[in-house]
Amino acid sequence: MTWEPNVIVAAVDGSDRSIKATRLAAEMARRNGSKLHILTVVRPPEGWWGIGGAPPPARALSESLMEAQKEVLDRTVAEVDLEGIDYQVGEELGDPASAIVHYCEDVEADLLVIGRRGAGLMERFVMGSVADRLVHYSPCPVVVVP
Ligand SMILES: Nc1ncnc2c1ncn2[C@@H]1O[C@H](COP(=O)(O)OP(=O)(O)OP(=O)(O)O)[C@@H](O)[C@H]1O
Ligand SMILES: [Mg+2]
Repeated sequence: MTWEPNVIVAAVDGSDRSIKATRLAAEMARRNGSKLHILTVVRPPEGWWGIGGAPPPARALSESLMEAQKEVLDRTVAEVDLEGIDYQVGEELGDPASAIVHYCEDVEADLLVIGRRGAGLMERFVMGSVADRLVHYSPCPVVVVP
């Protein structure tokens, strides 16, 4: 079996840990000449999905929510050394774990890099719920950064 990390996805939620995970992803991308996607998912407020569950167009979301998420990407790009890396940022709307899985399928990711925990406030000894679901359902190998 030959495996090359041509496409690496780093998922960021604004937490320092997810930025640390992105640093590792960037280092791997640099060494392997991989394309790097830095992805963040906006979770719509509870009740937003309405009947039928069709996702609303992004522009219909409150400006402040989209702004906050854009800041997540800006901050990540500012804090991670991306010199010489072919990267792009991505923003998706929906349930974070499902959206990340679908994104990885779409871009045919070879590797997904995430933090063990994220921006959630609950202290616990286990992985975050998004990390847990990604480890179970990711279409590609996952690197979980402690
Ligand atoms: N909305 C998101 N967009 C992109 N990546 C995310 C998002 N949420 C989580 N992640 C990724 O998953 C990792 C683990 O975060 P997770 O949300 O599972 O932990 P948590 O916030 O501590 O717990 P919980 O959300 O269950 O309260 C993050 O470091 C990040 O890599
Ligand atoms: Mg979380």
